[in-house]
Amino acid sequence: MVIAITGGAGYIGSHTALSLLSEGYEVVIIDNFSNSNPEVIKRMEYLSGQQIPVRRIDLRDGKELEAVFKEFQVDAVIHFAGMKAVGESVNNPLEYYDNNVGGTISLCKVMEKYRVYRLVFSSSATVYGVPKNVPISEDASLHTTNPYGRTKLMIEKMMHDIYLSNKEWSIALLRYFNPLGAHESGYIGEDPNGVPNNLMPYITQVAIGKRKVLNVYGNDYETRDGTGVRDYIHVNDLATGHIKALEKVMKETGVEAYNLGTGKGFSVLEVVKTFEDVSGRKIPYKFVNRRPGDIAICFADSSKAERELGWKAKRGIEEMCLHSWRWQKKNPNGYKKVELN
Ligand code: WQD
Repeated sequence: MVIAITGGAGYIGSHTALSLLSEGYEVVIIDNFSNSNPEVIKRMEYLSGQQIPVRRIDLRDGKELEAVFKEFQVDAVIHFAGMKAVGESVNNPLEYYDNNVGGTISLCKVMEKYRVYRLVFSSSATVYGVPKNVPISEDASLHTTNPYGRTKLMIEKMMHDIYLSNKEWSIALLRYFNPLGAHESGYIGEDPNGVPNNLMPYITQVAIGKRKVLNVYGNDYETRDGTGVRDYIHVNDLATGHIKALEKVMKETGVEAYNLGTGKGFSVLEVVKTFEDVSGRKIPYKFVNRRPGDIAICFADSSKAERELGWKAKRGIEEMCLHSWRWQKKNPNGYKKVELN
């Protein structure tokens, strides 16, 4: 079975592609490499022991995209490709709508033309905005507080409309909480451009001495220790969640959303402490103002994914910290300028 993976050279896409290969699926990676490095493909081929077909394409280029569906007998698509920095989306909304929504429209048009109706979409817990209650279940109200989140919500709603127009479609909308960690080999991992927005890559860059101090955004939230609480989930647990969702969309039609989280919340300081324990590195930090758009507490009720997909996160925060650290230690400059040792 051939699975087309858009954004398959990215952080979650590359881990999912590796898991698919280990389960015997064939994959073709479609990526414009705007936020990923071709080096990751070499790593994936090394780890999987297989050649991986890659097509360097922007989804909005319908002709190029169609050529992939002509060349490969695509059975289903896992759609990761998209821009995902909240702050950047506020400054550059048009690029986010064009890239994320426009790219998805182009993809779905080609899928429809080639009668490929099985789709797993990389959505985000950001569609819940400021949750009224935690843990958050899939029927919680959906509202977004930034253009990035609005692109995800718009795409989800578009998927429902596509299904209503043609009941052959089968779509799983996977709402991730906070992905952390890396492949246990340390050969692939999260490699953000520039100054990391997210907590863990910033911590690991402090740990290798690339950054001096961690800025903790606010310590006056209504939480155990005043710092933000999130549901961190290992990227390999996320990868397995995609495979379970793929199995489901191959069997039945319809559109369903699933939360992919652990159901546990950890504060910033708890993550820092765990990282220090597993790495043996001290992480100096200082409290600064809250970051605009941040919420106090967010963690998942993932019982629907457990019930309907037979999926449950297995890895704990220690393992996430350990694998993030192993990746960063082996790759102090991410995928740039580092040969496999
Ligand atoms: C986690 C916690 C920060 C950095 C984002 C996106 C979301 C999803 C996951 C795509 C918060 C605190 C962070 C730092 C800090 N991405 N923090 N210092 O904001 O929960 O979610 O990534 O789908 O859409 O919004 O993740 O890692 O940025 O922050 O104190 O240098 O760490 O305040 O409490 P977030 P994050």
